Amino acid sequence: MTPMNTDVAHASEAVAVEAERRWAIIVMLIIAMLLAMMVFTGLHWAAMPPSRVETIDPRKLHIAGEFVEDNLGTTLGADGKVTVRLIAQQYSFEPQCLVVPAGMPVTFRATSTDAVHGFVVDKTNANVMLIPGFIATFTTRFDKTGERLMPCHEYCGTGHAAMWGRVQVMPAEEFLAKAKGAERMHCVPR
Ligand code: CUA
Repeated sequence: MTPMNTDVAHASEAVAVEAERRWAIIVMLIIAMLLAMMVFTGLHWAAMPPSRVETIDPRKLHIAGEFVEDNLGTTLGADGKVTVRLIAQQYSFEPQCLVVPAGMPVTFRATSTDAVHGFVVDKTNANVMLIPGFIATFTTRFDKTGERLMPCHEYCGTGHAAMWGRVQVMPAEEFLAKAKGAERMHCVPR
């Protein structure tokens, strides 16, 4: 090897070493960033409990409080807010058929009397778990009128597959007209 070739070899080796070092640093930075994200999210969520935890005694639901039978269903509050209250039990929802207005915010408040249940309203983002002892709540909006199926989506026992409810989404004007007379609205189960 001539002295010149040796120089070229040394030079290219130096370039390779430099590139390797650069990539090693980049990879270490990526790993460090991922670890920092894991530590941050872990500590953050451990230090920050869910923003709201509302508890209720599942043994006394039917005796007093907002989940007594004649308080279940849909209400239009004095402030114009629509609230749906329901309970889940093995193996049905109460009420079995819910009425909601289209195009208005609807707040659900629900809980379970026995096992863990849940429901999803088809073709919408309404999706919640119902755990005995806790009140689940969320607010959503139904854009299309018509009937939606509402199956239980947490395995809750032998009757799970038969646990269904229905949601009737009606035009807002029709809902508001009906809501004036009826305190707690629901539709007749079929
Ligand atoms: Cu209730 Cu599955």
